Amino acid sequence: MALSVNNLVKLRKYPFIAFLFFIILFVTFFILTTNTSQPPLRQPSVTKTIPTTPSPLPLPLPLPLQETVSNDSTETVINSELDDSDSGEGLGYEWKVCTGSLAVDYIPCLDNRKAIKALRSRRHMEHRERYCPKPNPKCLVPLPDGYKVPVHWPKSRDMIWFDNVPHLKLVEYKKEQNWVKRSGNYLLFPGGGTQFKEGVNHYIQYIEKNLPKIGWGKRTRVILDVGCGVASFGGYLLDKNVITMSFAPKDEHEAQIQFALERGIPATLSVIGTQRLTFPDNAFDLIHCARCRVHWDGYGGKPLLELNRVLRPGGVFIWSATPVYRDDERDKKVWKAMVALTESICWKVVAKSFDSSGIGLVIYEKPVSSSCYKSRKENNPPLCDENTRPKTSWYTPLDGCISAIPITNTWPTPWPQRLNSKPLSLSTDPEAERVFHEDTKHWSELVTNVYIGSLGVNWSNVRNVMDMNVGYGGFAAALSDLPLWVMNIVSVNGPDTLPVIFDRGLIGIYHDWCESLNTYPRTYDLLHSSFLFGNVTHRCDVLDVVVEMDRILRPGGVVIVEDNIQMLNKLKHIFRSLHWSTSLHQQRFLVGRKGFWRPETKR
Ligand SMILES: C[S@@+](CC[C@H](N)C(=O)[O-])C[C@H]1O[C@@H](n2cnc3c(N)ncnc32)[C@H](O)[C@@H]1O
Ligand SMILES: *[C@@H]1O[C@H](CO)[C@@H](O)[C@H](O)[C@H]1NC(C)=O
Ligand SMILES: *[C@@H]1O[C@H](CO)[C@@H](O)[C@H](O)[C@H]1NC(C)=O
Ligand SMILES: *[C@@H]1O[C@H](CO)[C@@H](O)[C@H](O)[C@H]1NC(C)=O
Repeated sequence: MALSVNNLVKLRKYPFIAFLFFIILFVTFFILTTNTSQPPLRQPSVTKTIPTTPSPLPLPLPLPLQETVSNDSTETVINSELDDSDSGEGLGYEWKVCTGSLAVDYIPCLDNRKAIKALRSRRHMEHRERYCPKPNPKCLVPLPDGYKVPVHWPKSRDMIWFDNVPHLKLVEYKKEQNWVKRSGNYLLFPGGGTQFKEGVNHYIQYIEKNLPKIGWGKRTRVILDVGCGVASFGGYLLDKNVITMSFAPKDEHEAQIQFALERGIPATLSVIGTQRLTFPDNAFDLIHCARCRVHWDGYGGKPLLELNRVLRPGGVFIWSATPVYRDDERDKKVWKAMVALTESICWKVVAKSFDSSGIGLVIYEKPVSSSCYKSRKENNPPLCDENTRPKTSWYTPLDGCISAIPITNTWPTPWPQRLNSKPLSLSTDPEAERVFHEDTKHWSELVTNVYIGSLGVNWSNVRNVMDMNVGYGGFAAALSDLPLWVMNIVSVNGPDTLPVIFDRGLIGIYHDWCESLNTYPRTYDLLHSSFLFGNVTHRCDVLDVVVEMDRILRPGGVVIVEDNIQMLNKLKHIFRSLHWSTSLHQQRFLVGRKGFWRPETKR
C-alpha cells in the first residue's frame, strides 16, 4: 500500500489520493458507529423522558445491589433486543414519586380517603374494606428516611430496623402487653400480646395441652389468626411447622401488619366486615382469635358464619376472649349469644379452660357432615342454596347461611406428606391427578435446575416470597425446604386452584392484578410470575401491574418473570425505566432487581 501510494505520488495522481483517503475515513466511521453498543444516535430516544436511565448493556448498571451473574451470550441477546422498536412502552413514562403524608406507606385500595369519607355506614367496619382508586395510581412510593435492607430471618422475628417501619404508637399503646419495644436503632418483639401474658410459646403449649389432637405441624398445618396484632402467634408457630395466615385491618393498631411482614412472618391486611374473606371454603385446619374484637354474633351472626365457611370440616376455632372467663354483665351477655349461635351452626365445644395467668379460652369444632344441620329444630341460620350461592370470594357480601359440607370429606394427610399428596379438592378425574403430579414434578425440576442455580438470585437474602399466579402451587412446594415462605396468589379471573393450595398445606389469597394488593409497600423480597401478564393485559395495562410490583417489592428485592419473549421485552423496558437491573435467561426468564432509586422529589 505504502508502495502504491508512493507510486501514485510519483505519478502525481493527487485527486485520486484525496478520494481514497475520504473513502477510508468514511468506512472507519461507519464501522465504529455500527459496532458500538452505546450508539450516540439512539441515546436521545432513551434519555428524553427518563433523564437518568443508565446506558444500555453490556455496561453494568450502577445499582447498589448488583449480583447479576453475567453470561456473554445472554447479554448479547439483551443488547440486540434494545433495538426492538415496538417495545418502547414504559420508556415514555415519566415516573413521579407519590406525595402526601401517607405516601411512604401508601396502600391505594385502603387509603382511599375520598371513598371512605363518602361511606354511609361504618358499623360493620366498612371503612376498613377495599375501595380502589380509578384509574390505578401510577406514582412510586418514596422510601422512609434511613431505610435499610431488612434484618435477616430468623433474627428478624425478634428485631427489625426502626427506620424501616418508624412507628411508635404500639410501643406506647401496648406497653404493658409487650407487643413491641424500641431499643436504639431497632424495634424488638418479645413475643407478647393481649392474651400472651406469659409469652406466646407458653400460650401455644397451653392450647395443645387443652386439645392434644390438634397436633401442631402434623394434623394441624394451615391456620388463620384473626386480629393477629404483630403476628407473634403465627411467628412462633413456624417453629412447629405450622403456617399461619395472620390478618388484621389497617386500623389504630398502627403498622401491625407492616411489622409482621418486616419480621418475615406471613401476614395480610384484611377485616371481618361486610364481605367474604378472600379465601376459599373449607380452607383452614384451625382458626384462632385472641381478643380480636370481632362481634361474632352481630350482624345476624354473619361474621361467625364466615369463619364457618373458611374452616375445614372437623377443624377447630379457638376463641380466647373475656366473655369466656369474665363475669361482668357485658361479657355474660356476649357469652350467652355465642352459646346460642355456635349451637345453631352445630359447633361443638371440645375444650374450655382458664389459665393461671388469668386468661381463658374455648375451642369449638365444626361438624364433618351436614347431618346435624338437618336435625336442628329450626333451619336458622338456613343452609345455603348451593345453586345460587356466589362461587367467588372477591367483593362478595357475607353469606347469611351455612355453606354445605362436601360429601366426600376427609382430613388431609399429615404434614409434610400432605404437600405432595393428591389434594382433596382436586377433581376425581384420574387425569386431574396425573396433571397435578406432573405439575409438581415440572416445578421441582425447574426450581432446582433454573431458579436456584442459574438466575443469579441469592436465595439466602429471600424471606417473603409472592407467587403472583400459582396454579397448583408447584413453585411454593418446590421451595419448601428453604427458610422462606410463599404467599400464593390465585387470580380471580383464572381457574380456581386456591382450594388445592390449602389442601397441600400452603397459604394463599384471591386477587385481581388489575388492582392494588392489600399489603404495605416494601413487604416482599421476591415476586414470581409465570405467564401471568398475557392474561392480565386483556383487562388492564402491564404498566399498572409493574407499578404495583414496584410498590410491593423492597429495594434490593428480585422479580422473576417467566413469559414469552415479546412480553419479557416489554417488561424489561419498563423495569429498566425504573432503574432496575435486568437479565434475560434462555429467552424465557426475566430477572429484575429493584434498587434504591426513586424519582427526584420536591418533598
Ligand atoms: C386487642 S388486639 C389483639 C391482638 C392479638 N390477637 C393478641 O392477642 O395480642 C385486637 C386485634 O384485632 C384486630 N381487629 C379489630 N377488629 C377486627 C376485625 N373486624 N376483623 C379482624 N381483626 C380485627 C385489631 O386490628 C387487632 O389486631
Ligand atoms: C451462558 O448461557 C448459555 C445459553 O443459555 C449457556 O449455554 C452457557 O453455558 C452459559 N455460560 C455460562 C458461563 O454460564
Ligand atoms: C448471599 O447473601 C449472603 C447474606 O447476605 C452473603 O453472606 C453471601 O455471601 C451471598 N452469597 C453470594 C454467592 O453472593
Ligand atoms: C390464562 O389464559 C389462558 C387462555 O385464555 C387460560 O387457559 C389460562 O387458564 C389463564 N391462566 C390464568 C392463570 O388465568
